[in-house]
Amino acid sequence: MNVVTITLGSLAATTSLGAAIGSSLRPGDRVLLAGDLGSGKTTLARAIGTALHAEPELTSPTFILISEHSGDLPIWHVDAYRLPVGSDALRAGVLDERQQHGVTLIEWPEHLVGLGEAGADVLSIHLETATDEGARTAEIRGARPELLAALSATSGSTGQITMGDAHE
Ligand SMILES: Nc1ncnc2c1ncn2[C@@H]1O[C@H](COP(=O)(O)OP(=O)(O)OP(=O)(O)O)[C@@H](O)[C@H]1O
Ligand SMILES: [Mg+2]
Repeated sequence: MNVVTITLGSLAATTSLGAAIGSSLRPGDRVLLAGDLGSGKTTLARAIGTALHAEPELTSPTFILISEHSGDLPIWHVDAYRLPVGSDALRAGVLDERQQHGVTLIEWPEHLVGLGEAGADVLSIHLETATDEGARTAEIRGARPELLAALSATSGSTGQITMGDAHE
């Protein structure tokens, strides 16, 4: 599987990455958004949603596990933070047959088991807070090399990109 690392120098860079991702997603795609508290998962999810004209806008409500949004494609936004580590995705209600017709964005996927084969997701993104105020790094793995290449290209003006094979 390929991996790209993009330096997101500002909030605007994260928003443009989200816009590029949102406009590339197809029915059935799933995006995993991992990273520490405050690393920017919801911010990126919201930007992906905006590109898909999500209604209502994606937010981060405290006690909601999954929210459903209409848009160019139906969108499911999952925040598994409050589930104990090791929770079964199907039993917890994170997986839904209808998701094959839309896109599913999952924050805190590391709390879940049973999400399916590793690498099957169109994008698996790990966000990290960088030392610079307002900067983040996004390590993006994905099943579609052409999508990773496109994301690198669109983020070219805002970030530093390294592309290579993930050793897993
Ligand atoms: N480059 C950046 N990318 C993303 N967010 C940024 C950036 N710079 C600053 N921020 C700020 O960092 C915060 C990120 O919060 P956000 O809710 O997106 O994080 P999160 O990873 O979803 O957190 P949680 O684990 O609580 O769900 C926001 O306040 C956002 O404005
Ligand atoms: Mg969040």
